[in-house]
Amino acid sequence: MSNCKELEESYGNAMRAVCPGGFKLQEGKMVTESGISALDSLLDKVYRDTGFDFREYKRGTITRRLERRLHATGAKTYPDYMQFLDVHQEEYESLIDYLTINVSGFFRNPYTFQQISSLVLPELVSGKRAKGQQNLRFWSTACACGQEPYSIAILITDFLRNSLKDFDISIYATDISRYGLHRAKAGVYSPNEVVGLSPTTLANYFTRQSEDYVVNGAIRQMVRFSYFDLASRATPHFGSMDCIFCCNVLIYLQKSLQEKVLEMLYDSLAIPGYLILGEAETPTNNLDGKLDCLDSKVKIYEKNGESDNI
Ligand SMILES: C[S@@+](CC[C@H](N)C(=O)[O-])C[C@H]1O[C@@H](n2cnc3c(N)ncnc32)[C@H](O)[C@@H]1O
Repeated sequence: MSNCKELEESYGNAMRAVCPGGFKLQEGKMVTESGISALDSLLDKVYRDTGFDFREYKRGTITRRLERRLHATGAKTYPDYMQFLDVHQEEYESLIDYLTINVSGFFRNPYTFQQISSLVLPELVSGKRAKGQQNLRFWSTACACGQEPYSIAILITDFLRNSLKDFDISIYATDISRYGLHRAKAGVYSPNEVVGLSPTTLANYFTRQSEDYVVNGAIRQMVRFSYFDLASRATPHFGSMDCIFCCNVLIYLQKSLQEKVLEMLYDSLAIPGYLILGEAETPTNNLDGKLDCLDSKVKIYEKNGESDNI
């Protein structure tokens, strides 16, 4: 019974509702009589029907978010909800919106951007100049509604000033949220969404449109938005990157998936290449020794390439 109680606590009300007659523990999973976790079945179905793969996301976050959809649709159990999805395919859109958490902001964690300007950009730019190269390539891997890649574009523009024209800058911005990508491409933000930006940044990089603020063309031109699923195990086709942002998305993934994602990002980095993680995120053990930490407070790492040359 104490096992069940612990499980109830960690898996939440939704799981309790799935197995009203009780549930059993097998290899650390709650299972139904048929031996398959109801949550696994639901996530398998979501993957089959939509291609979105949440099977290796942290269960706590997923169950909390699913509870809200169960409540909204009147479903009492996961099997009920699966039946609801069969009849109401449009529910998938709301479900995906709930499971992808689009919270973001311009220059979210301002100190991170400050340190990129002090530690990363000077090295990167002088290295490129020394090699006679003009391309600077950035990747915002979970760009939500676009605030992160546009912040990167503004940061680079402010940093390079008159030398901007000497460089060919590409900022790839990807996400799995169609809603996020749609908003990101539009580049239109409400007064609330730009509240932290200085009057100078607003004046230099945005145009007022009624109540809203629209990102200016010069900044938008640097950013290319597209769909890319970090959980898909696919290799991105963008080529090697000078700097990759993977902020506030690893926290939603189980360790095994975090490892795979970080390995793929590491392989996508040039040498030198810089990896920026969210404040609550750290590289997994598989990257031990392959990345040098430039600032542990803001999680900036440099690929040193040493292990790659062995
Ligand atoms: C909390 S937001 C972070 C946005 C931004 N990086 C930041 O730090 O402000 C998390 C984003 O990760 C995206 N996401 C979740 N799973 C993903 C995956 N497998 N591949 C790509 N993006 C994903 C979500 O759609 C959401 O836009």
